[in-house]
Amino acid sequence: MNPSSTAPPDLHGHGFLLRRPRDSDVETRLALGRDPEIYRMFGGDASLARPYGQADAEAWLQHTIEHPAAWIIDRDGLVGEVRLDNINKHDRRASYAIGILDPELLGKGLGTAVTKLVLAHAFGELALHRISLRVLAFNERAIASYLKCGFSVEGREREAALIDGAWHDDIMMGILAHEFSAAPEEPQGK
Ligand SMILES: CC(C)(COP(=O)(O)OP(=O)(O)OC[C@H]1O[C@@H](n2cnc3c(N)ncnc32)[C@H](O)[C@@H]1OP(=O)(O)O)[C@@H](O)C(=O)NCCC(=O)NCCS
Repeated sequence: MNPSSTAPPDLHGHGFLLRRPRDSDVETRLALGRDPEIYRMFGGDASLARPYGQADAEAWLQHTIEHPAAWIIDRDGLVGEVRLDNINKHDRRASYAIGILDPELLGKGLGTAVTKLVLAHAFGELALHRISLRVLAFNERAIASYLKCGFSVEGREREAALIDGAWHDDIMMGILAHEFSAAPEEPQGK
């Protein structure tokens, strides 16, 4: 496969599946709602947060369906989403975004396993050369997970985000194809 392919294939991990979205995901997405800690890790301003409603869930599903490289993280149902954004076919690079939406599943190895699986797909079937991401400096769990996957810190954008009235830095991270170890993702349930 090359980066011009259309629908991304299902990717099978240990104890989870990365799959295309389906209509029934709206109900689960609505139930997951907008967890305050997770919302903050995406740079959400708690003071501006409003309840997550049916229209939000339907718009999210439509956006995910139309995205060329977005997957539902499925572990006995929808628990999160992961994307390769802005795929550049000439430079063979893309940016990475992941969100586990169930707070009960944070810090249990799932995010690291998902990231390794998507990197294997990106550097394998998609033949990309580089994946980059940006992450809020206070999101230490995400940074630790990305480092475990082989990303390096490449820079820091000072005071790039204003969250609840305070400025926060963004950390820029990247990984090249030859830096990615093809080690299998870790088993779940630690
Ligand atoms: C970022 C995210 C995908 C990581 O997935 P995860 O399953 O929670 O993380 P993992 O358990 O795989 O790995 C986290 C690592 O950080 C460590 N960690 C956990 N909390 C930490 C903290 N507060 N500070 C530093 N390290 C921490 C864990 O110990 C673990 O390392 P270990 O396995 O060596 O012990 C997930 O936390 C998430 O979706 N968070 C909410 C949204 C978000 O932040 N998205 C990313 C925006 S850039």
